[in-house]
Amino acid sequence: MTTVMIVKISKHKMLFSLLLIVLVISIALFLYFFLGRSNETVLIEARGIIELPVPITRGTMSVEEAILKRRSIRNFLNKPLSLEDVSQLLWAAQGITDPTRGLRAAPSAGATYPLEVYVVVGKNCVTGLSEGLYHYKPDRHVLEHLLEEDLRSSLADAALGQSSIREAPISIIVVAIYERTTSRYGERGIRYVHMEAGHVGQNIYLQAVARGLGTVVIGAFEDSRVQKVLKLPEDQHPLYIIPVGYPAG
Ligand SMILES: Cc1cc2nc3c(=O)[nH]c(=O)nc-3n(C[C@H](O)[C@H](O)[C@H](O)COP(=O)(O)O)c2cc1C
Repeated sequence: MTTVMIVKISKHKMLFSLLLIVLVISIALFLYFFLGRSNETVLIEARGIIELPVPITRGTMSVEEAILKRRSIRNFLNKPLSLEDVSQLLWAAQGITDPTRGLRAAPSAGATYPLEVYVVVGKNCVTGLSEGLYHYKPDRHVLEHLLEEDLRSSLADAALGQSSIREAPISIIVVAIYERTTSRYGERGIRYVHMEAGHVGQNIYLQAVARGLGTVVIGAFEDSRVQKVLKLPEDQHPLYIIPVGYPAG
């Protein structure tokens, strides 16, 4: 009789323990997948962070064809770009291509990475992005929304009124923080930084061609005016303005 009761009690205990374990696991999973994610999303939105689509690494045009077809394009259609286009152009400029070592699409002297990349987006110019200034964060492949107005005209004015900047749906701005490279290489680091901007510009040219887009690298502008329009920190020096859009004609 007592043996039967003991067996019954321990059976109940086992069942209760099992249910408890299942309950604890379910609560843990719920917290991890739902609360954890939604907290992250709320945080991301609050800081104005836009996640970019995962870049493709296999396109339809060969690198040879892209080199052959590359030309500077200064007139653009009034046609919006996709978020995939923006993602791809930024990835080609400074995207992480070796996540384990943090290496990027363009070479950098001693991997010091002195360049920052910003994007000026016009009103209704990129599907899924409102107008303004964005900062590209290569580590997470995200954009941070910094300013909320269409800056294309002011940026064009700071660049001798070049209409390509006024017309293009977006302009990518490549900015240098010299200290990152000169702290290791001294004065010689300055030339390294400029060479690196060239690599970034060429990557953007070729990526644009491969997606049926057009671009031109622009070096003629007033540095201090560009800094003012983009509200850049003092140690960030603009090197290139790179308008991108669908070629007109
Ligand atoms: C450092 C640099 C600065 C440039 N600045 C400008 C510029 O301010 N405005 C412009 O329309 N094109 C600019 N360009 C583009 C050149 O005018 C263009 O590359 C050249 O005319 C050759 O044409 P292609 O690029 O079609 O081969 C610049 C190019 C380089 C490399």
